Amino acid sequence: MAAYKELASVYDELMGEEIYAKFNKIITSMINKYDRTAKSVLELGCGTGNILIPLSKKFETTGLDISKEMLAIARKKDKKSKYIQADMTSFRLNKKFDVILCMYDTINHLKVFDDWQKTFKNTYNHLSEKGLFIFDFNTQAKFDSFKEPKRSWSKLMDTIVLSQTSSRNDLALWDDIILKKKGNMYKMFSDQVVEKTFPLKKVEAALISAGFKVKQIFDENGKGPNKDSRRLFVTCMKELIK
Ligand SMILES: C[S@@+](CC[C@H](N)C(=O)[O-])C[C@H]1O[C@@H](n2cnc3c(N)ncnc32)[C@H](O)[C@@H]1O
Repeated sequence: MAAYKELASVYDELMGEEIYAKFNKIITSMINKYDRTAKSVLELGCGTGNILIPLSKKFETTGLDISKEMLAIARKKDKKSKYIQADMTSFRLNKKFDVILCMYDTINHLKVFDDWQKTFKNTYNHLSEKGLFIFDFNTQAKFDSFKEPKRSWSKLMDTIVLSQTSSRNDLALWDDIILKKKGNMYKMFSDQVVEKTFPLKKVEAALISAGFKVKQIFDENGKGPNKDSRRLFVTCMKELIK
């Protein structure tokens, strides 16, 4: 079953708003630092539009996602941005953007490194000259914390979500059981998100080979990459290959 098919309906309630305020601050500061003239923004794996909606006040925004359920919610919430269903490893939009984003460990959803490389190259091809690619990814330190399975539950408006994080081989797994209230009964759905990570050195080499200049990398605490970094934010610029 496709990931996010069932999760889509509870995604916004589960994620909350705090993390998006943090992402927005990082994205805005990177754009202000490296490309003050940017006008257009494309987000790969835009989900329900939480990152694009605030950006749509200032930029011409486009979101791309593989999940039609996530996109349906984004389109309902956001009439300003354009939303497209496509795979980030192979999309062709016949258009260039000043900034391309891939946020909230969306790149980790690609389980083979060849797909990370295809996405980097594809992103490069859709960027205008000196355009920015800003993304984040979960590191091995984060994956290590999944070795011991952890369970939690959230009570939402009409839904209860039972969640488990765990790891299998070198994959990180998020399993959710979603109990939706229908009258005085609960209907059960399940969803699974699977992620994979790769070492920073390998990621940087692939970015450079796609034609990017890596401008800045920092972790969730604003520090340079270190052994405890759980999420790395990477900002790259499109350099023209001569
Ligand atoms: C963790 S969610 C992040 C969504 C959004 N960026 C946010 O911050 O709320 C990951 C998103 O990536 C999408 N996704 C996963 N693989 C994809 C692919 N190959 N191409 C496009 N989107 C993909 C999923 O459907 C999901 O909406």
